[in-house]
Amino acid sequence: MNLRYLGHASIYTEINGCKILFDPFITPNELASHIDVEKLEVDYIFVSHGHEDHVADVKSIALRTGAKIVSNFEITTWFENQGCENVHPMNIGGNWNFDFGKVKYVNAVHSSTLPDGSSGGNPGGFVFETSQGNFYYAGDTALTMDMKLIPMQTKLDFAILPIGDNFTMGVEDAILASHFVEVDKVLAMHFDTFGFIKVDHKQAIDKFKEANIELRILEVGEETTF
Ligand code: NI
Ligand code: MN
Repeated sequence: MNLRYLGHASIYTEINGCKILFDPFITPNELASHIDVEKLEVDYIFVSHGHEDHVADVKSIALRTGAKIVSNFEITTWFENQGCENVHPMNIGGNWNFDFGKVKYVNAVHSSTLPDGSSGGNPGGFVFETSQGNFYYAGDTALTMDMKLIPMQTKLDFAILPIGDNFTMGVEDAILASHFVEVDKVLAMHFDTFGFIKVDHKQAIDKFKEANIELRILEVGEETTF
């Protein structure tokens, strides 16, 4: 499976011919100024929670492309009320078979208020089970024992975890999370965008290596294959 890092928590991938985007926060992200949002072709936008740094470009991309917005009920309803008609509401613990594979919306320990102060429901992450590979997109979350439930049902090939600390897990907790979900390959997200979440890349990669986990930290726009 090929993934493209679009900065912060924004990840793009194609699975079984479907173009999938997570948590687009591109136009406000100075580190992603070379990414042209208008050129992104998208079939599905997965939204982990309601914070601005995860929803900023959802509406414009959805309205331009007709992409389906998948998130919790509160967030999909918020976008529906703004004219985004193609939505799929989920809630924590629920599975759905999309045309590219199965997705479970799992809990995250975080908050989820939308940019205008509306309730964004409870924050979440996504477990993808597809014929091209299985992975966990954690969203913004603390380390939580509930992560141990994931490998009881899904053998993951890799995980996409926040490592920036302060608002989410930092490196040490992300290493424990990797053990909890039983992966030895991790794609880093939610680092460097703001002053609070700057990460020493080499130190992070070395710490993961000591725990026998490969941490990949990409440049904005860079691709990797798992
Ligand atoms: Ni957040
Ligand atoms: Mn965030």
